[in-house]
Amino acid sequence: MAYEFTKEDLEEIEKIKAKFPEVMPATLPVLWVAQNRFGHVNPDVQRLVAETLDLPEAHVHGVAEFYTQYYKEEKGKFVLDVCTCLSCQLCGGYDILEHLEDKLGIKKGETTDDGMFSLNEVECLGACGYAPMLQITNDTYVNHLTKEKADQLVDSLRKGEVPEYEQIDMPLRNAK
Ligand code: FES
Repeated sequence: MAYEFTKEDLEEIEKIKAKFPEVMPATLPVLWVAQNRFGHVNPDVQRLVAETLDLPEAHVHGVAEFYTQYYKEEKGKFVLDVCTCLSCQLCGGYDILEHLEDKLGIKKGETTDDGMFSLNEVECLGACGYAPMLQITNDTYVNHLTKEKADQLVDSLRKGEVPEYEQIDMPLRNAK
């Protein structure tokens, strides 16, 4: 498949480039533009980004590989990133991961046959105080997970509904 940016994408990329004195720092946000357009930044998309920014492919590849938030292959409609780092692990992160593997019929790193869900095991997502938790497609955090909450989440997403989860203030935000 040939990947091309739209006219709107190229306009956005020009605005991004204008924010920096040189083009290299634009790599991160332009990869983001690409992922929003194509759903992933596989090697062909990385090449497109490199050509668009007139940067070495190796540089763009290195940036894309470094961050798990960039998907290097096609993913499901919903990507469930289950944290199993220390706090989440101690609070049952692996139980949640295994439960989701059973419920979805896939192993971590895989995508369901219907293309609805990809399941990943990830490192700390910075919400350790609300463990165990997962993230939906680089966006919504689902905190204080239980197996029941994970089941409800999958059932809602299957119906195309992203549940609204409680917003949790950072502890210091309201400190006097
Ligand atoms: S250990 Fe899971 S969010 Fe930090």
